[in-house]
Amino acid sequence: MSESNESPVTGVTPHPPLQKYYQGEPQRRGFVTGLFDRTAPHYDWINRVMSLGSGVRYRRDALRRAGLVPGNRLLDVAIGTGLVARAAGDILGDGGQVTGVDLSMGMLAQARKSLPVTLVQGVAERLPLADGCADVVTMGYALRHVTDLESAFREYLRVLKPGGTLLILELTRPAADSATYRFTRFYLHTIVPLLARLGPGGPESQTLMEYFWDTVDNCVPPATILAALADSGFTSPRQNVVHRVFSEYVATKPRD
Ligand SMILES: C[S@@+](CC[C@H](N)C(=O)[O-])C[C@H]1O[C@@H](n2cnc3c(N)ncnc32)[C@H](O)[C@@H]1O
Repeated sequence: MSESNESPVTGVTPHPPLQKYYQGEPQRRGFVTGLFDRTAPHYDWINRVMSLGSGVRYRRDALRRAGLVPGNRLLDVAIGTGLVARAAGDILGDGGQVTGVDLSMGMLAQARKSLPVTLVQGVAERLPLADGCADVVTMGYALRHVTDLESAFREYLRVLKPGGTLLILELTRPAADSATYRFTRFYLHTIVPLLARLGPGGPESQTLMEYFWDTVDNCVPPATILAALADSGFTSPRQNVVHRVFSEYVATKPRD
């Protein structure tokens, strides 16, 4: 995607620019797109290795907790290779519908191999979809990559039907002085990138996993995400924390 397609930054960025990877905010989108394009063929392998309980089963449980039911129309933003969409398929049954959006053509190509769903190239901040087209919108482990939180949240509100539900899955950094933080940092900053490098994706996958940790470590706190959801027009945004590091942000579109 060229820089001329960049959404202007009008609100809260999920983390400050990480100059180890790119120069500044205008270069971030290009870096993220290239990184996911190049690592897409190895994403499922890496995810299985590092999963820490965040695999398809966890995604399915989170979708149930958020209220996904058979027959719903689900929009999965940042579908990647389709791990959330696959988990949703187990719940939705034949009457349900899944549409997936992702900025990375490489990720969409991987999803297309195994998922019989509608796939569209686009970005969270400007969804190429009609108003009110979804009962449930999901975003799995990609909030740290949007340009600004409120642009994405306003788009989620627009494409949801009144009364519809938003579910955002994210990893949340534990308190910096805790043993959980030290363990999570060692595992995600050292062990997982090493395993990724030794696997089929080599150095690019190592960079993906190092970037993963750095974005988690530098991400705005949950209170900022909840405030941005409320400021964007969502009703009663809440955070459900599972196993200390998995955050499920759930919010509802008002009915009128
Ligand atoms: C870590 S993967 C998560 C994939 C999947 N949701 C999952 O749960 O495994 C992050 C995905 O977000 C996509 N992405 C990053 N920024 C995006 C944006 N602004 N809009 C749409 N997709 C984006 C990437 O291309 C990548 O496929």
